[in-house]
Amino acid sequence: MKKHNFSAGPSILVPEVLEKASQAVLDFEGKGLSLIEISHRSPEFVAIINEARVLVLELLDLKDKGYSVLFLQGGASMEFVRVAFNLLSPEGKAGYINTGTWANNAQKEASFLGNVIELATSKDKNYAYIPKDINVPDDLDYLHLTSNNTIYGTQFKAFPPTEIPLVCDMSSDIFSRVLDFSQFDLIYAGAQKNIGAAGTSLVVVKDAVLGKTNRSLPNIMNYQKHIERESMYHTPAVFSVYTCYLTLKWLKDLGGISAIERRNNAKAHLLYSEIDRNSLFRGTAATEDRSLMNAVFELNNQDLEMEFDQFWQAENISGLKGHRTVGGYRASIYNAMPMESVQHLVRIMQHFETKFG
Ligand SMILES: Cc1ncc(COP(=O)(O)O)c(C=O)c1O
Repeated sequence: MKKHNFSAGPSILVPEVLEKASQAVLDFEGKGLSLIEISHRSPEFVAIINEARVLVLELLDLKDKGYSVLFLQGGASMEFVRVAFNLLSPEGKAGYINTGTWANNAQKEASFLGNVIELATSKDKNYAYIPKDINVPDDLDYLHLTSNNTIYGTQFKAFPPTEIPLVCDMSSDIFSRVLDFSQFDLIYAGAQKNIGAAGTSLVVVKDAVLGKTNRSLPNIMNYQKHIERESMYHTPAVFSVYTCYLTLKWLKDLGGISAIERRNNAKAHLLYSEIDRNSLFRGTAATEDRSLMNAVFELNNQDLEMEFDQFWQAENISGLKGHRTVGGYRASIYNAMPMESVQHLVRIMQHFETKFG
């Protein structure tokens, strides 16, 4: 029986995406060849990556607004560096908002290339909230933030208004909620949470912000080079891109981001209501900043940890442990997570309370 997969990433994919991707690995579109044994330059694969690009722009409502879409490699972590290479001039400064491990890593990696200023942080409370009313100087090359904190379970509900280029790591909440995506000049996300299989990362960049740093760049770090070569400067992660294509198509057929947002809100509401109601658990993130993707919680009595772990594992649940650096529990409820799995988890928490409360 398939498990209820609450893993934070790589994470759950839509069943029909898994089925179609498996089929394509065996025989891609009836060609007698596997998807992963044909050239990335074959007309069949080029059609897939082109269609995936169009779907990204359609879903984000960025069509004909001057944005390019790339499928690159090196994970979101590579974009921590590539962003700085492309947007931070040697004598300039970039502003970072440090809301957790990944935001902190993005900031640290950029600092190898130039001046980086931490404009705000929630480190004082173990990243349990999102800093508000951040003063953003207007002489920065860009402002970087992480929309959703996968590890601590917090999420920006609104973004600082600013005239400077806004860069956002959306690895764990892209395509999950309606936003004005045109407020961002560069969005990036590792595929392995809300888009597809691990291996590629999505970059959506406004062409007008590139080429301004007066820095000479190695080709592989240069977004303009990747745009020119349509994500084929080097061999793309074909399988991963294909799963992204299938997921994006699924999302479009479902009704797009507004449709999935309604589902996501309902799932998060159900789960957080139980966390708040159940006498054995407590949520760790500030209520108003709670993530709709990663619900982080812990036991009031840590001595029950072994019992609870045995309890949910016996009930066909997987991936509920918190990140190894924070402990506790984390239910990742990305786009592909069905309501039924959240209902199952809630029932398990209720049974556990009946037994141990
Ligand atoms: C918000 C966020 N940014 C960046 C990363 C790092 O992604 P990758 O492993 O693709 O480099 C993660 C991974 O979990 C993440 O959650």
